[in-house]
Amino acid sequence: MADNPANSETLDNLLSENRTFPPSAELAANANVKQEAYARAEADPEAYWAEQANRLDWATPFTQVLDWSDAPHAKWFADGKLNVAVNCVDRHVDAGHGDQVAFHWEGEPGDSRSVTYAQLKDEVCKAANALVSLGLQTGDRVAIYLPMIPEAIVAMLACARLGLPHSVVFGGFSAEALRSRVADAEAKLVITADGQFRRGSALPLKAAVDEAVEASDSVQHVLVVRRTGIDVEWADNNLWWHELVDGQSTEHEAEAFDAEHPLFILYTSGTTGQPKGILHTSGGYLTQAAYTHHAVFDHQAGQDVYWCTADIGWVTGHTYIVYGPLANRATEVIYEGTPNSPHEGRHWEIIDKYQVSIYYTAPTTIRTFMKWGKDIPAKYSLASLRILGSVGEPINPEAWMWYRENIGHDNCPIVDTWWQTETGAIMISPLPGVTATKPGSAMQPIPGISAKVVNDEGVPVGKGQGGYLVIDKPWPSMLRTIWGDDARYVDTYWSRFAAQGYYFAGDGAKYDDDGAIWLLGRVDDVMNVSGHRISTTEVESALVSHPSVAEAAVVGASDATTGQGIVAFVILRGDAAQDAAEADASDRVTELRNHVAKEIGPIAKPRQIMVVAELPKTRSGKIMRRLLRDVAENRPVGDVTTLADSAVMEQISSGLSAGSED
Ligand code: WTA
Repeated sequence: MADNPANSETLDNLLSENRTFPPSAELAANANVKQEAYARAEADPEAYWAEQANRLDWATPFTQVLDWSDAPHAKWFADGKLNVAVNCVDRHVDAGHGDQVAFHWEGEPGDSRSVTYAQLKDEVCKAANALVSLGLQTGDRVAIYLPMIPEAIVAMLACARLGLPHSVVFGGFSAEALRSRVADAEAKLVITADGQFRRGSALPLKAAVDEAVEASDSVQHVLVVRRTGIDVEWADNNLWWHELVDGQSTEHEAEAFDAEHPLFILYTSGTTGQPKGILHTSGGYLTQAAYTHHAVFDHQAGQDVYWCTADIGWVTGHTYIVYGPLANRATEVIYEGTPNSPHEGRHWEIIDKYQVSIYYTAPTTIRTFMKWGKDIPAKYSLASLRILGSVGEPINPEAWMWYRENIGHDNCPIVDTWWQTETGAIMISPLPGVTATKPGSAMQPIPGISAKVVNDEGVPVGKGQGGYLVIDKPWPSMLRTIWGDDARYVDTYWSRFAAQGYYFAGDGAKYDDDGAIWLLGRVDDVMNVSGHRISTTEVESALVSHPSVAEAAVVGASDATTGQGIVAFVILRGDAAQDAAEADASDRVTELRNHVAKEIGPIAKPRQIMVVAELPKTRSGKIMRRLLRDVAENRPVGDVTTLADSAVMEQISSGLSAGSED
């Protein structure tokens, strides 16, 4: 591999961004969390977290905040006891807010339901009584495989109420993915639905459960919500939700559990085939979920209408649909379907219908909206919005600007929130009433959190330099272990910087000249071109900053002269795609290569650019660069089981001739 001894940086810093957007005076004056919090949290992090934990109701107050004596195994608030579901539901009813809507649920076919906190309490208690009637006991695991329907939230809260750790499996996953997760957690119950609505049709869901539990030793019952009315096979241990749950009592006495009682397991794919069950516990997790929702979204109970567009199958759905917002007595919007059902303005229509004021989505969704064009949101008012959020991937500066202008109408702060399934809750993000944001930057750790960008030796890099993102102090919502494989937990997250005791997140990042943090993608994706370590994110952002590009993915492909060469796959914006069909494709490609050279420098000029219609993405919307590397290096395409749309790779491989090389 080519090497450049003059370049010793861990990761090159190539793009620079000078635009900044301070908060409005009104927001700065009234925000939930202000500048002073940073210094206060830094001076005494444990006192700060104790204060945040006291946002919750504790049945037995804690006397100890953090026990880190068995690092990297943390205990937070260990001698305190609480019930998570009581904190999310009952206490709001007890405080006189039973009539407040907890969520407005919008079904894909256009049906809708608004559920108040009093109604939610009744539903959760009935479901809890139903689970008790099945003989489930504290600590037993329950798998939840449901579409985005109210029962999904009720089921999660009923489990939490009983101290039954849940394992939610995304409803788009296959029977095999479900089987391996049910087996790993030894779940005794699976909660599912007959089917789910997707783009106007009713698709089967229970059929996958039937296949997944066929040879299971652990599963005793399958509880089935009727959502679509499609025909299903029926086995002896199957029960209808409406038959078992609806007739139960709405009275249920909740028990308080230890702060470290397991709350849920959530599987992430990891680099090897075996899924990793990330374990989260109760008190610390709920503390940080509630605190971050309060601080980062500036949520005002009883006033805001909050919508997080994630699926409950992902950690974002757990923390920012279920636990954080409900602990804070939010009124939420929950939407069952896809953003283009039945038309591409569905999200904006829902925002106007419910007067949504806080909207939290993913860069992949924003770039899809860009591709559809700004004329679509322009047909709606969107005047109720006041805060916008982004999560899941680095957001390219141009996508950020598009979001700000076309959705936020230039007057909503954007919070770009960095975190992971493993961190449980937001770690790095602007605060809407404090931070002067920069398009594309997650800015700095929130008060109470400490993170650094370090080099190979674990030494912090300077301003203007790139390296590895680490978290150097324990935090309340940190994962406690990998379910059933503690050695893998220590090895995966704590071995890279064992000497320093840092948690290594697997992401590359840089400080800009002002010390703001920019996320640069997974370190596994970093390219090495003539000894320069170049992040995929920066080249992608340079491509997306060209007016004709909606989305881009770049990979490093082996190259005889430079070690690796940059290969880019781009999706054009609606109008540009039309022109491209008519004009000469090779002109467009030359223009884009020159554009990258101008934005970043000749070193980052892609060797090859391919115009494609779609990119391979996981079901949570992250680009699978591994598969694109296979294409770029002319290898057969590898494991595609986690790909959202398996036809995409065939389309890309067969369209290769459209590329250009020189
Ligand atoms: C990426 C999702 C840049 C990152 C909550 C991380 C981000 C992984 C951001 C975790 C962001 C998430 N900017 N990158 N704001 N948010 N990521 O477990 O690579 O699905 O490690 O959790 O997503 O993904 P996960």
